[in-house]
Amino acid sequence: MKKEEILELKNKIDMNRIPEHIGIIMDGNGRWAKKRGLPRTAGHREGVKRVTEIVEAAFKINVKYLSLYAFSTENWKRPSDEIEALMKLLVQYINKEIERIHKNNIKVQVMGDITKLPQSVVKEVNRAIDLTKDNTGMVLNIGLNYGGRDEIIRAVKQILEDFKLGKIKPEDINDSSFKDYLYTKEMPDPDLLIRPSGELRLSNFMLYQVAYTEFWYSDIYWPDFREEHLYQAIIDYQKRDRRFGGI
Ligand code: IPE
Ligand code: IPE
Ligand code: MG
Repeated sequence: MKKEEILELKNKIDMNRIPEHIGIIMDGNGRWAKKRGLPRTAGHREGVKRVTEIVEAAFKINVKYLSLYAFSTENWKRPSDEIEALMKLLVQYINKEIERIHKNNIKVQVMGDITKLPQSVVKEVNRAIDLTKDNTGMVLNIGLNYGGRDEIIRAVKQILEDFKLGKIKPEDINDSSFKDYLYTKEMPDPDLLIRPSGELRLSNFMLYQVAYTEFWYSDIYWPDFREEHLYQAIIDYQKRDRRFGGI
């Protein structure tokens, strides 16, 4: 798309009704590469470039929370060399981008059990979280070794621990108190969930939180996902009638 066309699209967005929380299932890297006769890792490398661009585009239009699904609890099923490449790319991404992220007042958060990730990743992720912890701009929430079922089971275990300690009673458990046990505590539910690559499924993403999230799907692969696609998703979102079960 030409620059003017992108701007024209951007101008169609109602800036007073920007979705507060956007989730993205970044999918299609492998197929993007395969289509070009390249190894899957080439797709991941190209996908990382889109992360940089989309983070920038989102924070510029005042999205408050951006949740990116980077590695699922099921992605461990992949060949070890692909997992290693993904981990390496993650470290490289943080290393390269963290100064700019920090300068843009973005706060980095992670959802998922990062203790299971390689030491180099844990170190780099913790450095990013620590450096940006007092930032007040957009929250960049990255799903790493994240799975919605795992998150819910972990919450249940923690609630039982707190019950044993007398910190919580069954009658205290409700939607709001349950959310305090999720990785996303202190974050609103996603308003908009974007999934490129043509798959029409959640793949274990934020199962509890997406109860009333608006979905936006596209056939394009993540390495082809540009700012204009983000704008288009938001424009389409703004046309939806969110009833939350009401009339
Ligand atoms: C998304 O792209 C990246 C991760 C899941 C880490 P894929 O690697 O799933 O690409 P496809 O879906 O096989 O094309
Ligand atoms: C979802 O994509 C996980 C991430 C984008 C990190 P997958 O490629 O793993 O999902 P499936 O296997 O197609 O459902
Ligand atoms: Mg995939």
